[in-house]
Amino acid sequence: MSAKLIDGKQIAIYLRAELKAEVEKLKQKGITPGLGVILVGADAASVSYVTAKEKACSEIGIYSDDNRLGAETSEKDLLALVDNMNRDPKINGILVQLPLPKHIDEQKVLLAIDPAKDVDGFHPVSVGKMVVGQKAFLPCTPHAVLQLLIRSGVKLEGAEVVIVGRSNIVGKPLANMLIQKSPTGNATVTICHTKTKDVSAHTRKADIVIAAAGRANTITADMIKDDAVVIDVGINRIDDATKKRGYRLVGDVDFAEVSKKAGLITPVPGGVGPMTITMLLYNTVESAKTAAGV
Ligand code: GUN
Repeated sequence: MSAKLIDGKQIAIYLRAELKAEVEKLKQKGITPGLGVILVGADAASVSYVTAKEKACSEIGIYSDDNRLGAETSEKDLLALVDNMNRDPKINGILVQLPLPKHIDEQKVLLAIDPAKDVDGFHPVSVGKMVVGQKAFLPCTPHAVLQLLIRSGVKLEGAEVVIVGRSNIVGKPLANMLIQKSPTGNATVTICHTKTKDVSAHTRKADIVIAAAGRANTITADMIKDDAVVIDVGINRIDDATKKRGYRLVGDVDFAEVSKKAGLITPVPGGVGPMTITMLLYNTVESAKTAAGV
């Protein structure tokens, strides 16, 4: 391996220690940041994400209100719970874990969250503010990618960035963040997706490749140029009988080969994942401070 690792786990430890100290100071003023967490159903990946988010909250002193609802929960009941959390002063952030079961209209639920508590940054008001460069809650995964790039000293201004994946959660918001006229933006961004004719033709020219396609081995070594920065947002479960839990986690990048050619690369696990949760904690603390006028 010739690439340097971007150690998301270590950067997250450092940031969470800062946030923990900030929460302690807020508690001395009688302010405890609170996160309302809603999980509908028992999708294995979602259960593990939500559990990790709540554990991270508890580690830094954020109160979390855990709501695990059955897969058959009606849209009406879910909206009523969101409405309760909107009114609850102990709750500064609301997290409805996605995806939701098919009988629930995801956009309707996201729209019901008070934008002042939208710590996931998925509400159209948050998205709109982010696009026009106003202060808003930034969605956690793209914000995590941006922080990893900045904290690893990667030059964004003028960089050619290719994002593979156009989801509302990662690809679209990340492209918007990276093109902002700001010292943490000013990049030239291309988004590739399932209908892109020749993904390699784009990625081979990129200084920074960000894989957010949700498919293992989407990015192979022949698709990147020497010394490219490669950020892997993917988390895919691959059956593996040698593991006790029966699977292992891999990203969207063929790490073994790409890491021989890239200049900088994030691992999976231990790259974007721990930072994503950290940005959720960050948004929740910011929301509590705003609510308290601090
Ligand atoms: N599902 C996958 N990523 C996310 C996320 O960042 N937030 C929520 N709420 N659901 C998700």
